[in-house]
Amino acid sequence: MHKVIFDTDPGVDDAMALLFLHRHPEVDLLGITTVFGNASVETTTRNALFLKREWKIDAPVARGANETFDPARASEEEWPTFVHGEDGLGNIDVPEVIDMPVDPRPAYQFIIDTVRAHPGEVRLVAVGRMTNLALALRHDPEIAGLVKDVVIMGGNFRVPGNVTPVAEANIYGDPEAADAVMTAPWKVVVIGLDVTGVTTMSRKYLADMATEGGEHVELLNRISQFYIDFYAHMVDDGMLVHDSCACVYIVAPQLFTTQGGPIRVVCGGIADGQTIQKPDGFFFPPGDWDNLPNQLACIGIDSDGVLSLIRRTI
Ligand code: BDR
Ligand code: CA
Repeated sequence: MHKVIFDTDPGVDDAMALLFLHRHPEVDLLGITTVFGNASVETTTRNALFLKREWKIDAPVARGANETFDPARASEEEWPTFVHGEDGLGNIDVPEVIDMPVDPRPAYQFIIDTVRAHPGEVRLVAVGRMTNLALALRHDPEIAGLVKDVVIMGGNFRVPGNVTPVAEANIYGDPEAADAVMTAPWKVVVIGLDVTGVTTMSRKYLADMATEGGEHVELLNRISQFYIDFYAHMVDDGMLVHDSCACVYIVAPQLFTTQGGPIRVVCGGIADGQTIQKPDGFFFPPGDWDNLPNQLACIGIDSDGVLSLIRRTI
């Protein structure tokens, strides 16, 4: 069984990813930690509770960060309501309050305690800003040696960004946190736009899944319509399933190709939030790239295989 903590900002594609983890027989979902990004953390936490209730997910929800890792960066936040809707879940009228308990600990503490309870076993799947993970590292750096691996949806290496010409949303939203996560001594796998940007689920594919899958997939189908409309400028009647790709990696890494090398994130300036992997086989004078852990960046994906695994699982 893969013991997973899902760090998320639901978020339409986050919802599909959560359902995938919940339904996969080899995943033991230990907890859901929330972070700001697609909406405020109040909204993403409320949405996590809503999905937990609707899908009868038996895992605790812990509320996470609502501001960047480096307070100096904190700026006025405008949520991407044009992507995920006013409610963060495609304007389906999620109730304002979901009367269910939230774990009393902040997300970073939940992560630390859970990792320490299962040394060497926990897989952190982070599909929002990396703030909670960076805070967990700051409060307890030893967890880096106790986590099995960290799989993130974020970044871009050989393709343009989606919020600036060089940056992807999850990384751009908190570059200092992302740089701390990429350079910590743990194993990180980066599932970025290089692979999520070519993995499109069509409206019909999702509708067929809903017909086959029943009520829980029908809810996902309703949630996704607004997001599919948003993607009309990019793909032909469908949506990119960014966050599900990271979850699929957990159970089916053979559907991805990766390249190794240290990864850093640009913090500031015109390339703020850009992810860079040190290329192999070049000589560089000593400097910022020395003594960094080798991380994996995904550069290839079997998109049909990924979509079909999502369909079968959900
Ligand atoms: C990422 O940004 C968010 O909008 C999505 O949920 C995904 O995690 C894609 O850039
Ligand atoms: Ca997300």
